[in-house]
Amino acid sequence: MTTDTHAAGRRGYGRRPRVPRGPEGPNGERLFAGWMATGRAADLPEHLARYGGLPSFAEHGEHPLIEAAARAGLTGRGGAAFPTATKLRAVARAKRPERVVVANGMESEPAAAKDKALLRLAPHLVLDGILLAAEAVGATEAYLCIADDRVALARALREMVAERNYHGLDHIEIQVRTPPHHYVSSEASALVNWLGGGEAKPATTPPRTAERGVAGLPTLVDNVETLAHLALIARYGPDWFRSRGTAESPGSTLVTLAGAVPAPGVYEVAYGTPLREVVSLGGAPRDVQAVLVGGYFGTWLPAGQAAALEYSGPGLAVAGANPGAGVLALLPSTSCGLAETARVLEYLAGQSARQCGPCRFGLPATAEDFAQLAFGRCDRAARERLERHVALLPGRGACKHPDGAARLAASALHTFAHEVRRHLSAGPCPAALQAPPLLPAPAAAPIGEGDWR
Ligand SMILES: Cc1cc2nc3c(=O)[nH]c(=O)nc-3n(C[C@H](O)[C@H](O)[C@H](O)COP(=O)(O)O)c2cc1C
Ligand code: SF4
Repeated sequence: MTTDTHAAGRRGYGRRPRVPRGPEGPNGERLFAGWMATGRAADLPEHLARYGGLPSFAEHGEHPLIEAAARAGLTGRGGAAFPTATKLRAVARAKRPERVVVANGMESEPAAAKDKALLRLAPHLVLDGILLAAEAVGATEAYLCIADDRVALARALREMVAERNYHGLDHIEIQVRTPPHHYVSSEASALVNWLGGGEAKPATTPPRTAERGVAGLPTLVDNVETLAHLALIARYGPDWFRSRGTAESPGSTLVTLAGAVPAPGVYEVAYGTPLREVVSLGGAPRDVQAVLVGGYFGTWLPAGQAAALEYSGPGLAVAGANPGAGVLALLPSTSCGLAETARVLEYLAGQSARQCGPCRFGLPATAEDFAQLAFGRCDRAARERLERHVALLPGRGACKHPDGAARLAASALHTFAHEVRRHLSAGPCPAALQAPPLLPAPAAAPIGEGDWR
């Protein structure tokens, strides 16, 4: 790192190294520090005034930023919480001299808004992170992927890249690209397929993108929030990063609060914050019966159980959940959890690439049976078939799409077991038929073969 204080500590000058302090908001917000201070999106002059230019590194062997990411304990914010340093290392050590970095800004999860908010409010942190990651792995190409229907966002980002290049700030030109907007097009292998000229459909792994990515080159695919944190770690170091969060889950993270809260939106919290407190950032929740934790590949939990958990990977794992796409959706008692789940499953079934057995057969059958349970008449045989299908979905697709849908369905059957019994004996409840949908499930036209390019 460039900070003398770390160097002083290593050289043993006999005093504790001072941890450099990065800008933070009143609640410790880091990515949103600028937004909290000014209430407006940070343009380039403001970004440079707050953070300065890109830090430079003295390199001997492994790039110091990879070691810093490892010491910081940075994990991916795109869903799987994989250690970022391990991914950086895998690409940096690849045998091929040409390497690629892809920033995943697709945010295909309909209930999530965190990546769009970050790209709007602190875009230069993301762009810095892409360039720093490219430098760390020795990449000569860098892409930022934005879903093709977010035209204004992509245009604004292209203008920002041009402005940075005009000022000679970036060592390579980030290319803003717009893959088609389907739920599975944002999966890492789908993005690299599309960037290499193919369809935006997931491919079987291995090989991982770190081995064979865009045009067969070793490729780092990271979520945009992950890269923004990397840009802060490069400036303020791992100790500063670890000064929020827990020892096991360091740092802060963005959360989208949706559903029965007065002020839904995107908030930045430290990992380890009690979930009850995270939710209260959106105001006092109204009569909540359950919480969907993690998004559409996530887990329904009863409100009381969810409130008592700590918001972090290990904290949520206690209840079989994880932060996933960073969504907390609060279900009011006036809504039906089975109806909400049925609509999301139908959406997920329609969004698959229909390449693998579970997406061609199991997922549509599960969605159909679930809709029958939620909105129609369902007997015990159908209910048992539903459970069998759900159990057969995971681990059989090229990507984790069926696994995610199965997790959602299984958690709904468990958390809403009482409602399942009522629907079985008396048919759909009034809420299933009358309450307005809470979770967005865009009713898209069926995806045609030509729509994947
Ligand atoms: C069906 C599916 C959809 C995904 N959509 C996204 C997405 O919209 N944004 C994202 O960052 N990661 C998404 N992921 C995860 C990516 O495949 C990949 O793991 C992630 O971008 C890696 O970044 P990270 O290590 O920084 O989390 C998706 C995964 C699956 C299986
Ligand atoms: S599991 Fe489904 S979404 Fe994933 S690659 Fe196979 S068909 Fe496509």
